[in-house]
Amino acid sequence: LTGAEIFAMYVTQLIARRVREAGVYSEIVPFQSAEEGFERLKPKAVILSGGPGSVPEEGSPRAPEIVFQSGLPVLGICYGQQTMAAQLGGSVESGHHREFGRAFMTVDAPSPLFEGVWSVGEQHQVWMSHGDRVTQLPDGFEVIGSSPNAPLAATADEARRYYAVQFHPEVVHTPDGAKLLSNFVHKIAGLKGDWTMAAYKDQAIAAIRQQVGDGKVICGLSGGVDSSVAALLIHEAIGDQLTCILVDHGLMRLNEAAQVVAMFREHYNIPLVHVDASDTFLDALEGENDPETKRKTIGRLFIDVFEAEANKLGGADFLAQGTLYPDVIESVSFTGGPSVTIKSHHNVGGLPERMNMKLVEPLRELFKDEVRALGRELGLPEQFIGRHPFPGPGLALRCPGGVTRDKLDILRQADAIYLDEIRKAGLYDAIWQAFAVLLPVQTVGVMGDGRTYEFVCALRAVTSVDGMTADFYHFDMAFLGQAATRIINEVRGINRVVYDVTSKPPGTIEWE
Ligand code: XMP
Repeated sequence: LTGAEIFAMYVTQLIARRVREAGVYSEIVPFQSAEEGFERLKPKAVILSGGPGSVPEEGSPRAPEIVFQSGLPVLGICYGQQTMAAQLGGSVESGHHREFGRAFMTVDAPSPLFEGVWSVGEQHQVWMSHGDRVTQLPDGFEVIGSSPNAPLAATADEARRYYAVQFHPEVVHTPDGAKLLSNFVHKIAGLKGDWTMAAYKDQAIAAIRQQVGDGKVICGLSGGVDSSVAALLIHEAIGDQLTCILVDHGLMRLNEAAQVVAMFREHYNIPLVHVDASDTFLDALEGENDPETKRKTIGRLFIDVFEAEANKLGGADFLAQGTLYPDVIESVSFTGGPSVTIKSHHNVGGLPERMNMKLVEPLRELFKDEVRALGRELGLPEQFIGRHPFPGPGLALRCPGGVTRDKLDILRQADAIYLDEIRKAGLYDAIWQAFAVLLPVQTVGVMGDGRTYEFVCALRAVTSVDGMTADFYHFDMAFLGQAATRIINEVRGINRVVYDVTSKPPGTIEWE
């Protein structure tokens, strides 16, 4: 996956999300199947998203003609702006004018797109990311905003309700962008904005019923918000065709499996099987250093366990997982172009092809905070909703180098102390995710009158909105000192603690 491809997928999903935040239901349809999407969805407005291609290049994507024949309002963003110009009789040039990052756009003309947000003559920050640009506008278009590097930064054909912007209104670096998108769907397309998570829930339930029919589903439950929401949603859809399975792979946190089972059984009457498969996983991981191999091994064994459990239940047709959109984006590999898999999240890339069950992934289109909103809609208690994300492969990703039972024990204790300190300081909810990592490095220390030679523990805490980007949490030094002291005093095997001050990008949240 090239950087441009990842960026394009990310911003496309962000557009859909911003529109939903404005109370209007939106779905992403790939350009190849847009005609079919038109039939199926009967849209009220169209947004043409950014993309990694180049409009002047032969064979590059185009919007299907139905978009312009439909009489619907259209907003083209970045690549969408360029293909719109090309398709409606303007022209686009490649190269020379690459522009990335912050820019300042001057508002040149009033427009319903800017109504209540920007006035003529003002300058506003927008986010640019493009290599090509429109050089000649199609008939009927006029410039409504310009910047020194993008004279056609925002253009409109008000009569046909066509809008085309060079910048990205969907990213937070265009601070007023969400309001512009809201203007497009409300003021321009005239949509009410009464879509809610409750409506999404109903749609998701209908989709599950349609997919599953009277088949049997097993759902991997980890106790995290994603799998809990997936399980509840599926349960609402198909009732006792669903059985949940909690697989303890030996890579969970201190006492976590027992706590999750107790918590779930206290609130729900959904059949839940608790499988202790820790020996199987830990034996297979013994001595494995490579992060991708770890994930793949764990993914494969999960399926083995799920299949074995499904057989015990007399067979299952579907395996349900709480896969989210960021897992999907970060795991996609394109063929043809340069291809890099950032990480194959186990619940996407790690699944073996031979699996007999089909997948049900009702959260595939959502970001974490949307899943939390859906969970609230389903009445999931806050103690589930507020839980920090925890990756499927668990502590294996937090033990760089070989995973051993001894190291996992050390890591579990350090992690529990760290989280305990975070809760005591009242910081748990201010942090997106916090955890300890046990480094495969031993360093010299002195304790009492003896020299020690033990492991280094790294502490990580980040803030984030959706896990796609993150900043390290700015703890007070006294807090870090207190957590480090407790870890070193209470955990045998650690004599040094460090704090990770890397944001994402360039780092990732997990260490592997
Ligand atoms: P990264 O480390 O990619 O993490 O910045 C983003 C979010 O995803 C979680 N994560 C995973 N979740 N399987 C999962 O189920 C995985 O293999 C995996 N890797 C990372 C991570 O904890 C963070 O919330």
